[in-house]
Amino acid sequence: MKFDNPIMPLRLAAGLFLVATLALQADPTLHIDAGQVTAHVSPTLYGLMTEEINHSYDGGLYAELIQNRAFLDDENAPVHWSLIGGGSGASMALDPSQPLNDVLKISLKLDATGASTSSPVGIANDGFWGIPVRPDTTYTVSFYAKGGGSFSGPLTVSLQSNDGAQTFATAQVSGLTGDWKPYTAILKTAGGVTPSATNRFVISTASPGTVWFDLVSLFPPTWKDRPNGLRPDLMQMLVDLKPAFLRFPGGNFLEGDTIDTRFDWKKTLGPLSQRAGHPGPWGYRSTDGMGLLEFLLWTEEMGAEPVLAVYGGYSLKGGFVKPGSDLDPYVQDALDEIEYVTGDASTTWGARRIADGHPEPFPLHYVEIGNEDFFDKSRTYDGRFAQFYDAIKAKYPDLKCISTIGNEQPARLRVKSCQPDLVDEHYYRSSNFFQKDSTTHFDKYDRQGPGIFVGEWAAFENIEPWKKESSGLPATPSMKAALGDAAWMTAMERNSDIVALNCYAPLLVNVNPGGRQWRPNLIGYDALRSYGSPSYYALKMFSRNHGDLVVQATLDGLPPGPAPALDVVVTKDDKFGWLYLKVVNVTADPQPTAISIDGADNLAATGKAITLSGQPDETNSLDDPTRVVPVESDVPGIGPTFSYTFLPYSITVLHLSAR
Ligand code: AHR
Repeated sequence: MKFDNPIMPLRLAAGLFLVATLALQADPTLHIDAGQVTAHVSPTLYGLMTEEINHSYDGGLYAELIQNRAFLDDENAPVHWSLIGGGSGASMALDPSQPLNDVLKISLKLDATGASTSSPVGIANDGFWGIPVRPDTTYTVSFYAKGGGSFSGPLTVSLQSNDGAQTFATAQVSGLTGDWKPYTAILKTAGGVTPSATNRFVISTASPGTVWFDLVSLFPPTWKDRPNGLRPDLMQMLVDLKPAFLRFPGGNFLEGDTIDTRFDWKKTLGPLSQRAGHPGPWGYRSTDGMGLLEFLLWTEEMGAEPVLAVYGGYSLKGGFVKPGSDLDPYVQDALDEIEYVTGDASTTWGARRIADGHPEPFPLHYVEIGNEDFFDKSRTYDGRFAQFYDAIKAKYPDLKCISTIGNEQPARLRVKSCQPDLVDEHYYRSSNFFQKDSTTHFDKYDRQGPGIFVGEWAAFENIEPWKKESSGLPATPSMKAALGDAAWMTAMERNSDIVALNCYAPLLVNVNPGGRQWRPNLIGYDALRSYGSPSYYALKMFSRNHGDLVVQATLDGLPPGPAPALDVVVTKDDKFGWLYLKVVNVTADPQPTAISIDGADNLAATGKAITLSGQPDETNSLDDPTRVVPVESDVPGIGPTFSYTFLPYSITVLHLSAR
């Protein structure tokens, strides 16, 4: 053949090459050698991270339904409270002259001198974007009150629709005196009530007089009925993740904007009437109803153990404490905190925990010093960390100390004057980035360095969480993000000889307008409903399905693409003979894959597949909570060699028995 155009032979050659490549292009192969153990899976690999952000506790997990219960949210007005009844002799106002005590220094004064049977006067709270009313449900009301003059009540407490047209439950409280006293009442809804959140909580009186209120509280049933406890639907979702640990109390919430507004754990103990709460860094005040003990109880109720973050002497707006004698009180505070968690009755703070109602010490293996200290421009973290480290190790040699500056930060910022047991690395990255990075990221790490705690991570679809445009996106992520999350989890699990712990962040979000400060988040809710994002289900699949040993798994013949088409990690459960193959297909195409397994005798012929799949933009929401959820199916034909087609855009766990 003769070509006049010299380009033509090149084109033809390239075309022939392409045809030949396509003809030769075989399916991907996954070779597993179950006898080749490459790592032990850390027993604490999957945990949870939490802080007061997005109304995670107040208006979230903490079951309290009254917003601004102690009238401290705004010093100028009783926000979230409104007056019921009108005319002369009906008004309400903050009153600093009648404090409940030295901690709750402002009460609400209700002038009800114009009240009558035909025209009651009262106060109403609008809750956290509504008050959830459910059928056949018992609510516990409590508050402090005192009357002016001879006013003794009675007061009527009730759950009402916002327009007052419907009353779902009502009870009376009487016997008020001129002194502050606590009162309680039970509100019980009828069986036929339709669930709704467009409701308010009302305390009113038909008797003329003046009343002061403080610490007005309304609790629905809580998880395991613990008083001052947690919202059951959210707890169920968290327990279902089988978390090994809970990292608390932050995050930025630990640091506070300023040193004074840090999470000052000693001020979060004891009766609620002794907790003023404090301004949080995410734009709203925390009641601290979720205090240190409540965090520990929550951890215990999930069957997890705490990863305790102690204040490390740096706050978000730049305030810091110089290492040396200035820092000593903060170091002592951390030692006291550890003693509160772990001490026995012979210790000051162990005895305090026992007095607070928890005789048994809590397990504790990890303590993190501060949060994201790479932001500290004073560059004092090296000295601060070392001071905490020395003091903690002197008293608790077995505790592992975590530095907040990891390998994802420039080497010059990392702690050098001692070797942290672990470093906390944070990764908020695009799904595409995680998909590309997952096959190599931790594989390249120095195995002699500190252990890795991936203490915050999450894939976003396209827009960084801290960018303004992100506020226009749904509070929880789509399937696209879940694919990146899953690819990233294969990386962490495969490398769990060094990645000892990891936790997605943030965990919780109240999806009401104004409820959130960050996206993406794992679990969304309003006053009445909740749902898991596709990323929640991806995490659930990973955290519930792994063995104790990582085994050799090699992928070949992947189609070309910007990122590996498939990500994989294989673990085996040595005791029970399970094999867990986790495969993420990040492409739009099905991936028929030839799988061979060596080193696993007695493979059962039928396995189980758990599959999460969906288009990248598909997601879950309050109105469509189960659009993208895992599906279970039997997989016949399992043997030393078999083939399996991984669905487009899917996360699959193949659960095989090799007893
Ligand atoms: O998870 C949201 C925030 O991101 C955390 O509070 C902080 O540690 C990080 O910058």
